[in-house]
Amino acid sequence: MCGIVGYIGSGKQEKILVDMLKHLDYRGYDSAGIAVIKQNQQNSLTCKIDVTKTKGKLNSLEQLLKNSNKIPKNKFLVKDDFNTEELQKQIETINELNEADDVNSTCGIGHTRWATHGEATTQNAHPHLSNNNEWAIVHNGIIENFQELKEELINNKFTFKSKTDSEIVVNLLQLNTDQDNKLPTITPLIETCKKLKGSYALAALNKNFKNTLFLARKKSPLYVAKSKKTIVVASDPICFAGKTKEYYSLNDNEFCLCTGNKIEFYNLKNEVIEKTAEKLENLNQTKTKTSYKHFMQKEINEIPDVLKNIVKRYSTNNYLDILDKVFIKKFNKVVLIGCGTAYHAGLIGARYLQDLARIDASTSVASEFRYANPIIDNKTLVILVSQSGETADTIAVCEEANKKGCTTLALTNVEYSTLAKLAKITMPLCAGTEIAVASTKAYVAQVAVLYLIASKLSNELLNKNINFLENLQKLSDQIIIPTKQDFITLVDEISKKQTAFFIGRDYDYITCEEASLKLKEITYINSNAYPAGELKHGFLALIDESSYLFVIATKRDLLEKTLNGAYEAKARGANLIFASQFELENEVKKDFKHILQLPKVDENLAPLSSIVAFQVLAYLVCLKRKLNPDKPRNLAKSVTVE
Ligand code: AGP
Repeated sequence: MCGIVGYIGSGKQEKILVDMLKHLDYRGYDSAGIAVIKQNQQNSLTCKIDVTKTKGKLNSLEQLLKNSNKIPKNKFLVKDDFNTEELQKQIETINELNEADDVNSTCGIGHTRWATHGEATTQNAHPHLSNNNEWAIVHNGIIENFQELKEELINNKFTFKSKTDSEIVVNLLQLNTDQDNKLPTITPLIETCKKLKGSYALAALNKNFKNTLFLARKKSPLYVAKSKKTIVVASDPICFAGKTKEYYSLNDNEFCLCTGNKIEFYNLKNEVIEKTAEKLENLNQTKTKTSYKHFMQKEINEIPDVLKNIVKRYSTNNYLDILDKVFIKKFNKVVLIGCGTAYHAGLIGARYLQDLARIDASTSVASEFRYANPIIDNKTLVILVSQSGETADTIAVCEEANKKGCTTLALTNVEYSTLAKLAKITMPLCAGTEIAVASTKAYVAQVAVLYLIASKLSNELLNKNINFLENLQKLSDQIIIPTKQDFITLVDEISKKQTAFFIGRDYDYITCEEASLKLKEITYINSNAYPAGELKHGFLALIDESSYLFVIATKRDLLEKTLNGAYEAKARGANLIFASQFELENEVKKDFKHILQLPKVDENLAPLSSIVAFQVLAYLVCLKRKLNPDKPRNLAKSVTVE
């Protein structure tokens, strides 16, 4: 989590940094801040670091910068909604406008925070300054041994303004700086990092070196790019779109010294290393909400097109060719790994592998699996599911699985992500950029690609003839996105509740888990999902007349059994909401307070279509509760710390 940026070049630094950060607020929005080097007004021969930071979202920082005239009041505001081309044009204009009046400021760093250590306050916001005000730093990651290092620094008479782990890094930099050194070197940062345990992407600047940035990376993404006159640094190369054609990606324990328009890379031994630039491709995705009010709403509505896109890309590329009989027979075990929504997609994936291809597969939450001493080896296929490809625990499992000789297969939406590079095989999710924190279209894409994989293996192993691409294409036209009118009274009722329950069996139980996560994530309603058969084993004790219980039933052969569970809850007063592709008899209908008609689709594909209604429901309840669906409290889109 946390997004970091850096910039060396001409132009209004503050504005440029905020514009770059705008691409990264998906990584956290607890606070935001920037630091730029300015000439000292009293003594033009010296410089100082000017820090502006505040708690809250990026627009609070922007407002602060405007109020203090650090960015022009009359010029454009960064919109919440932009596309990269438009943004680039704006940056160029502002550069031209300001180049003449802002020769003093030559480099800066910026940060958007998801709090790990220390609450979301202005004091804990980044950048942090060293005690002597010579260094400023922005950090993404967690310094695990910060308490111990802090004590050492306190013994060395250092004081601390924040409760963050990051502030120790900037003071270690001060401690490791040789004041006699008149030229910038990467040595202080390397020496500092040698003491750190944990994860970090770091960007630092020093007031004595006007156009220099110091970078380091371990387990948190960091990228750097240069054009003729500028150097740009960011946690995500999306920030470089429109600025450069290629970029460098730092690996673990690599460092970078950027001076003027020169970039030099180093290893932990302080030796210069060569790196190859990567092409900046697939980044021209539009980040506009167009006519939609929120990204979440837009992304749900894109689901049919996402399915079409998957069909197009998987029919014109050979991604699935590797999955032949010889390949799959090498394995005695298939393990699917993910977190949150991606874990739920993995659960469906394992069921697909079992049902369609008769492959014994299991799914684990990445953060549990990595500490569970798993039995995996070169006969294990590990499928890692991740929208962002940057989720720390999922990456850690991939690293461990690679070490143990497993074959790792990443399903990710970000084709340049850490996971995509780390896994031995990568298959794209083709969902397009997902901005809203609550994953919607990416979930459907994950389940869809897992369906393709399982079907391909079924054809290979069991000589089946599943027309999986055609099936998906057909489904894309069958998916129905409910409207506000479809849910009007239900939304009113649910939005007044503090709790909600979901029950289902088999695939539907997994859909219940995902529907329940969506609801709690953006509405803060305490919603929970249970297998329908588990009611009597405990949770029935929670049911009374005020309870709202969603019953999802898309499998004909399990319908009766699921209904039995629902009746047991009704007998205890629960208000039932039935969601199914099947029509109920009029007599049975009476038992339900609401009925959600799900699209009639092939039962195997129901997990892809049935979730959509619940994504829309969560979105509408969220609006009714006057909350922001795109940025729920305490969460971030990309979870780069464990
Ligand atoms: C879902 O709505 C969540 N925001 C979250 O559970 C997410 O799916 C999870 O953090 C995994 O992210 P990833 O797919 O990028 O790895």
